[in-house]
Amino acid sequence: MVYLTRRLTFNAAHKLWVDDWSHDKNLEIFGKCANPNWHGHNYQLFITVKGHPDPLRGYVMDAKELKSLAKKLVVDKLDHSNLNLDVDFIPKGMQPTTENLAILIWQQLEAPIAEYGCRLHCIKLTETENIFCEYYGETF
Ligand code: NI
Repeated sequence: MVYLTRRLTFNAAHKLWVDDWSHDKNLEIFGKCANPNWHGHNYQLFITVKGHPDPLRGYVMDAKELKSLAKKLVVDKLDHSNLNLDVDFIPKGMQPTTENLAILIWQQLEAPIAEYGCRLHCIKLTETENIFCEYYGETF
C-alpha cells in the first residue's frame, strides 16, 4: 500500500460564535476567531489517498486528477469565501472550525476518489502554522 498526498491552498473568512453566549464568553472560548467583523486564514489542505501503483503508469492516482477533482468539489467553493455563509456543503449554523471543515471535506471527496480505484486515507487541514487537524474517516 502506498500513500500519495496532494497539497492545495485556499483563503477564507470565518467567525466562530454562539448567539446564545455573551460577547465576552464568545471571546473567552473562541479568542480572535470570535472577532465580530470576521477574519481570514490561509489554509493548507493535504489530501492523502492510498492504493497500489498501477502497473503501467506507476500511479496510485494521477496527482493532476486528484488536484482537479479537489478543486472542483472543494477548493473552488472554499477559496475567497465566507465559511459561515457561502459554502453549499457547510451546514448553516455549524461552527466552521478546522475540525468540522476536515470532516466535511472528507465527505465531499471520499466517494469520488473511490471511482479512481484508490481510497481516501486522510484529510489534513492547517489553519495556521501551529494549528492543524487530521481526519481519517473514523466515526466513533
Ligand atoms: Ni479563525
